[in-house]
Amino acid sequence: MRFLLEGIRPELQQYFIERNYDGRPFDRDTRSAIYQRAKSTKEEAPFGTERDVYEVGYEYLVHSTAPVETMSEAPRVRIGTQACTKPYDMALMNVSAMSFGALSGNAIEALNKGAAMGGFAHDTGEGGLSKYHRQGGDLVWEIGSGYFGCRTDDGGFDADKFAEVASGDQVRMTSLKLSQGAKPGIGGVLPGKKVTKEIAEARDVPQGEKCVSPAYHKAFHTPRELVHFLAHMRNLSGGKPVGFKLCLGSRSDFLSICKAMVEEGTTPDFIIVDGAEGGTGAAPQEYEDHIGVPLTEGLMTVDNALRGVGLRDTIKVGASGKVTNGVDIVKRIIQGADYTNSARSMMMAVGCIQAQTCHTNTCPVGVATQDPRRARALDVPSKAERVHRYQQQVVEQAMQVVASMGLSSFTELRPHMLRRNVSHGTIKSYAEIYRPLQPGELLATPPADWERDWELADADRFTP
Ligand SMILES: Cc1cc2nc3c(=O)[nH]c(=O)nc-3n(C[C@H](O)[C@H](O)[C@H](O)COP(=O)(O)O)c2cc1C
Repeated sequence: MRFLLEGIRPELQQYFIERNYDGRPFDRDTRSAIYQRAKSTKEEAPFGTERDVYEVGYEYLVHSTAPVETMSEAPRVRIGTQACTKPYDMALMNVSAMSFGALSGNAIEALNKGAAMGGFAHDTGEGGLSKYHRQGGDLVWEIGSGYFGCRTDDGGFDADKFAEVASGDQVRMTSLKLSQGAKPGIGGVLPGKKVTKEIAEARDVPQGEKCVSPAYHKAFHTPRELVHFLAHMRNLSGGKPVGFKLCLGSRSDFLSICKAMVEEGTTPDFIIVDGAEGGTGAAPQEYEDHIGVPLTEGLMTVDNALRGVGLRDTIKVGASGKVTNGVDIVKRIIQGADYTNSARSMMMAVGCIQAQTCHTNTCPVGVATQDPRRARALDVPSKAERVHRYQQQVVEQAMQVVASMGLSSFTELRPHMLRRNVSHGTIKSYAEIYRPLQPGELLATPPADWERDWELADADRFTP
């Protein structure tokens, strides 16, 4: 029935299958736009905006009276400091971390095949590098506190296993997850009955036994140890770029990592900032709704802190948190990102209808389930095409928006080009809302509004 309706018209599908799913994290219009882009059926919209453009919080980009030609090729962002022998050119939008385990094998396969077709990156998520990831698409191999895929028997980090997997050709970068926007500060437990043969293989854990990711890392305990661990990962991977992902907590906590980088003279190649608005397969509601810094604030802080310690040109910044369309990419770049990652909109590109049953193994469309009968509902070849088309069209939209702003490159975007209605009758640009730090300003003379956090920051202690 679903496929029949899908074939007839996306709106019909939405009416019959999704009408019960309103008021969910992605509204109906956003979902509809994602499906239409993925299917290449997106048409222009009639009549005018449906937004309240006077609402507090409304944001808009500043266009030019003299738009320019849209750039002919989608730009890429080179990731890799001097310590890298194998830098990677990242696309502007990539598949964000989602594990095999949270997603079905078919979903992972479709995402990776889509990434291969479009030449963008696919982050494995922390659940290991499964056979479903090995479809030819560029991989960012993520490890979390469970060190899945490179784990010792007692749950520690196994350097030899890491080196073996990380040196594979398909792995282009490796990433260390410190925290995630939907559930910062907690780990997870996979009950024994969910540790199937395939999951056990991907995670390198015994089949049928309870498998724990702790809330904290055992491989390092201080910011200083963290930066050395990252350098160790880079060496073990044979010089591929290495980075970490975090949802920002306190500013002084991040500044502690910055101090460690400066004092030790070693840095990651990229940092991914995840917003509190980010998604997950399962987390306590308290964490989803009340813990972690939202993406705008987190991104502006990380960008500014790196600027302040003179490392912004060395480290590339990725952003994830409800990036679904071209304007989202442009806005996040203005706020300090070099590139973006997207998780849930990519899930929608492979058929997610936001039923929000990921944690019950009963996903009706085969995206977030380990039940093979349900996973069959996901047709890999057609969904891979959709992932490819969706990414391509969103990036093209971002390129068109930049041209309408009179710019011929994303590197020309500046904070004054994004405006926000901060209160009724007052509109401010991002240059006014967040004063950008000068390169090295924190090291020379920290400004009054950063001084306390900079003093609190300590390379030998994560600071609350
Ligand atoms: C089903 C699911 C599984 C996820 N698994 C991981 C994971 O293993 N590691 C990770 O760093 N983030 C994980 N995330 C978070 C996403 O990578 C992403 O950072 C977050 O959802 C924000 O992006 P979005 O708003 O585009 O979904 C997961 C998200 C979802 C929805």
